[in-house]
Amino acid sequence: KKEYDYLIVGSGLFGSVFAHEATKIGKKCLVIDKRNHSGGNIHCENIEGINVHKYGPHIFHTNDKKIWDYVNQFADFNHFVYSPLSFSKGKLYNLPFNMNTFYQLWGTKTPEEAKAKIEEQVAIYGFEKPKNLEEQALSIVGKDIYEQFIKEYTEKQWGRKATDLPAFIIKRIPIRFTFDNNYFNDKYQGIPIGGYNKIIENLLKNVEVKLSTNYFENKEFFENIATKIVFTGKIDEYFDYQYGKLEYRSLRFESEILETENFQGNAGINYNDSEFGYTRIVEHKHFEFGNQKKTVITKEYPENWTSEKEAYYPINDEKNQEIYLNYKKLSENLNHVIFGGRLAEYRYYDMHQVIASALHKSKIELQND
Ligand code: FDA
Repeated sequence: KKEYDYLIVGSGLFGSVFAHEATKIGKKCLVIDKRNHSGGNIHCENIEGINVHKYGPHIFHTNDKKIWDYVNQFADFNHFVYSPLSFSKGKLYNLPFNMNTFYQLWGTKTPEEAKAKIEEQVAIYGFEKPKNLEEQALSIVGKDIYEQFIKEYTEKQWGRKATDLPAFIIKRIPIRFTFDNNYFNDKYQGIPIGGYNKIIENLLKNVEVKLSTNYFENKEFFENIATKIVFTGKIDEYFDYQYGKLEYRSLRFESEILETENFQGNAGINYNDSEFGYTRIVEHKHFEFGNQKKTVITKEYPENWTSEKEAYYPINDEKNQEIYLNYKKLSENLNHVIFGGRLAEYRYYDMHQVIASALHKSKIELQND
């Protein structure tokens, strides 16, 4: 018998939930992570008494009561509601697009007036068969909203002209005819009081964890110490890039401590205009209604990805999807390895989705075992 039942590669949400569920029923687990901290991308760093979301702002939201109850076992949540603003051509506007935004943009005061305005614009600028992102957006919301909020922001995000981006990137553009700035439609929403690290610490309370440990630097050794492996790293790396590299979009975060109590009055402000290299400024204290003397802000710059950089957003175009499917086939032949999470499945997962996936996969695995 091997020393561990499960070696779990990656201490992000997927790995930590799996480890917790397996440990709960008496399985012996070892979690390793190549970073010097656990938690993966939900990790927070305490700076000046503020929980700084090191890998981008994280707001927990879900419609699924089971998932909400599950995370609430590990931390209490506050009543934070994400209502970002957009700074565009010198003015601030409420997001997501709702009656406040339409009032600020056009002065329309009733849903009827706002609807008429959008319909009128879509009739002039819309396309029956949109060929690219620009045409797609014009067909859904018309010229004013597109030019004020979407064009330059999206071009920064993807580093390409909107006319060179595929239409499928924007499937729909949520529009609301109520004065409601809540970004998410989900029933449950909040930030864990004390930050996300608390959730991970509680998930891994009875689990052995080794940080600063890269699976690939000792692959053979790790393959031999556990009966099964849960792998949450990059699937292409696992298979030695034999079908080529999967591509990502990356981000660069520039954080500053400011000697002021309240810099922007809100957790998130998007910067639409191309003259700003960043797409948003996050002021972390507002996630937890902090009243510290100083503040920490982070500017978020979209960047091209190279293999030394963090992989943030998978590029789910046809070429990459095909490469991924080849790796997925290989993974299905490996009975002793379970692939899970955003990097091993090459897809964008929200936190509630990755938890649901880890609970589902661990249930199947632990039942069959
Ligand atoms: P994650 O990347 O967290 O964990 C994988 C771990 O494996 C990492 O710790 C890594 O170091 C480790 N690893 C990889 N290879 C290894 C190796 N070879 N050896 C050892 N360890 C290895 N979601 C949401 O619900 N609300 C939100 O507001 C946001 N906001 C947000 C902003 C931004 C900018 C991004 C990019 C993403 C979000 N998310 C989000 C999504 C959220 O970050 C995501 O759902 C989880 O972090 C995914 O958890 P995983 O465990 O899958 O991966």
